[in-house]
Amino acid sequence: MCGIVGYTGQRQAAPLLLEGLQRLEYRGYDSAGLALVEGDRLEVRKLAGRVAGLATAIRRQAAAGTTGIAHTRWATHGAPTERNAHPHVDCGRQIAVVHNGIIENAEALRAALEQSGHHLTTDTDTETLAHLIEDAAGDSLEARVIAALDHVEGTYGLAVVSADDPGKIVVARRGSPVLLGIGDGELFVASDASAILEYTRSVVYLDDGDIAVLTPAGYHVIDSQSHVQVRAVDDVAWDLEAIALGGYPHFMLKEISEQAETVRSTLRGRLLFEQGAARLNGLNLTPEACAAIRRIVIVACGTSWHAGLVGRHILETLARLPVEVEYASEYRYRTQLSLPGTLVVAISQSGETADTLEAMRAARAAGARVIGLVNVVGSTIAREAEGGIYLHAGPEIGVASTKAFTSQIVALALLGLFLGRQRDVLSLEAGQELACRLAQLPALVTQTLALEPEVQRVAREFVGARNFLYLGRGVSFPVALEGALKLKEISYIHAEGYPAAEMKHGPIALIDADMPVVFVAPRDDVYQKVVSNMQEVKARGGRIVAVTTEGNGELRGLAEHVFRVPATAPLLSPVLAAVPLQLLAYHIAVLRGCDVDRPRNLAKSVTVE
Ligand code: G6P
Repeated sequence: MCGIVGYTGQRQAAPLLLEGLQRLEYRGYDSAGLALVEGDRLEVRKLAGRVAGLATAIRRQAAAGTTGIAHTRWATHGAPTERNAHPHVDCGRQIAVVHNGIIENAEALRAALEQSGHHLTTDTDTETLAHLIEDAAGDSLEARVIAALDHVEGTYGLAVVSADDPGKIVVARRGSPVLLGIGDGELFVASDASAILEYTRSVVYLDDGDIAVLTPAGYHVIDSQSHVQVRAVDDVAWDLEAIALGGYPHFMLKEISEQAETVRSTLRGRLLFEQGAARLNGLNLTPEACAAIRRIVIVACGTSWHAGLVGRHILETLARLPVEVEYASEYRYRTQLSLPGTLVVAISQSGETADTLEAMRAARAAGARVIGLVNVVGSTIAREAEGGIYLHAGPEIGVASTKAFTSQIVALALLGLFLGRQRDVLSLEAGQELACRLAQLPALVTQTLALEPEVQRVAREFVGARNFLYLGRGVSFPVALEGALKLKEISYIHAEGYPAAEMKHGPIALIDADMPVVFVAPRDDVYQKVVSNMQEVKARGGRIVAVTTEGNGELRGLAEHVFRVPATAPLLSPVLAAVPLQLLAYHIAVLRGCDVDRPRNLAKSVTVE
């Protein structure tokens, strides 16, 4: 998704802004640009394509200025062209704006602006903002921005500079994240802390409705009630190493390989072995509140939704509560039933996914209690939820989510353990057993990662396939969905996940020697049934790759390739079974020459609905 970086201080802004944009590249984008203010001159440079191209252009023809704003754009309104790239300017080329989010009444604003003589030159919604600010009355840039935003419907995280007010950046937030970075005699703005971490760890997260005014001398925040506010300065808990490749060829491989450590990190300090329970203080759920829960609704998108499907099995088994798992984008537009005792669990790696955020708001408006399972500390979902569990998996840069998925399952297991024991539906012994199984997971993930050379061999064999089917049953069905999603996201091979037994009601028609079928078949109570499904595939000439449990010799002669993962509690098997599927997708994509960390058309964090 779009990214914002801004700087005001004593240094030349362009190199800092370009560096910041490069750190935001992982979010997905198709064009880039920056605006610099030098004296009373505004200079704008932009292009369709990569930040590296913008850097080359600026090297060729230097751009000076100690105040500036920059942007990577992921096209929504208008094609990804240089003209539509941000920053956008007003008629007099005095004001420049970068914007994340969507101006919903852009068409009406455009018509009104054109009628009053403005000349708009792009297809974007953002350009209207520059012209609105140009027209707005006020004795300072911030006063004009505030007046302009009065006319705007929709969402924004934006940064504005003006040649009439050098040294100043005005920032506004409604629905799209922006934070301030506080340096020594210099200030930054960014849509994501990773853009500015090289320069400062001190950040101020803005709230919706905030306007922030930055100059090299300092900043102030004006809240939605027009009060000048002092905001707490937070310290970013991770460092640059976490967002560097560290010797890996891709972030995706680094993040797959990190999973023993990230799973450990999600568990750290949370298992109570003697009590067979979990310590989850951030949930803010009293024993009475736990007892009052009647149903759980999970809302999420993409990979997080798949984790939610695993969570349904976990929570129904451990907490004995009915669980619904909803696509956030669908849930929010359905009739919200105000059923007492509803606990809504919003799952999101980024904590910024617009559909998940809106689903959570809709649920709250209907009276539900909402908790968040979120990775990014200080993100909007984390801040708006009444409580939650941070994944502590560290920054995930690869667009295809991997380590967040396994940590989400672990966090759901912790939630199940917590609720099961609090509600007295899980015995002490069963709780103790699960706590031990959870504690063993990091070591088992390490063992599973040792499958990589084998997976690589299989990847070579199937690199030319045009379709893949992934099948699993019970708790392994969402793993099949996730395996298929990983493959299609980064290799562009068509892949479908299906419940194994449902295959005979349709997809079986597709099976022939050109259709590799990946079975997720750990040894559990549906294992024999899944073996029958394999027979059905085999009988029709399909080629089978299976993920099963170590020590299980049975699949010889049935599957062409078998990845054996260590045994664990059946409910936790998705954490291990997912790993070879992530590696398979990764290696196939690399062999096909795909840009795995920046797959086409995808964005890391989807902040538009
Ligand atoms: C995007 C990403 C996916 C991710 C989904 C949900 O589509 O490309 O990898 O699963 O958003 O993101 P979230 O941050 O809410 O987990």
